Amino acid sequence: MSTPTITTGIGVSHHLLLCATPSKALCCPNPELGAASWDTLKRLVRELGLEDPARPGGIVLRNKADCLRICADGPVLLIWPEGIAYGGVTAERVERIVREHVIGAKPIEDWIVKRFNLAS
Ligand code: FES
Repeated sequence: MSTPTITTGIGVSHHLLLCATPSKALCCPNPELGAASWDTLKRLVRELGLEDPARPGGIVLRNKADCLRICADGPVLLIWPEGIAYGGVTAERVERIVREHVIGAKPIEDWIVKRFNLAS
């Protein structure tokens, strides 16, 4: 059994969790809509260089989530460190959210469905 290699020193600016194709389909009953949102998110993160370890401010992580415990108005995109969850995240909305919130640091208030806080 080999020992895993642990890489340290890569800063993370944001972590994006998208509930797009959940197994119970509670928030997003249309899997095609969610799949298109996920494809767009992956493409944008790559095309905009957000995964580049040399990016000032850190990289952007993205993962597909099976449920974010909101279960309505999907697809749902939760963004840390702000703890902001957006609803109705179509492929078109993904693009605006990435450009305005993740890159521009200006959340889009009209699409926010929930805010989470990390307990201190
Ligand atoms: S199924 Fe998407 S948030 Fe629960």
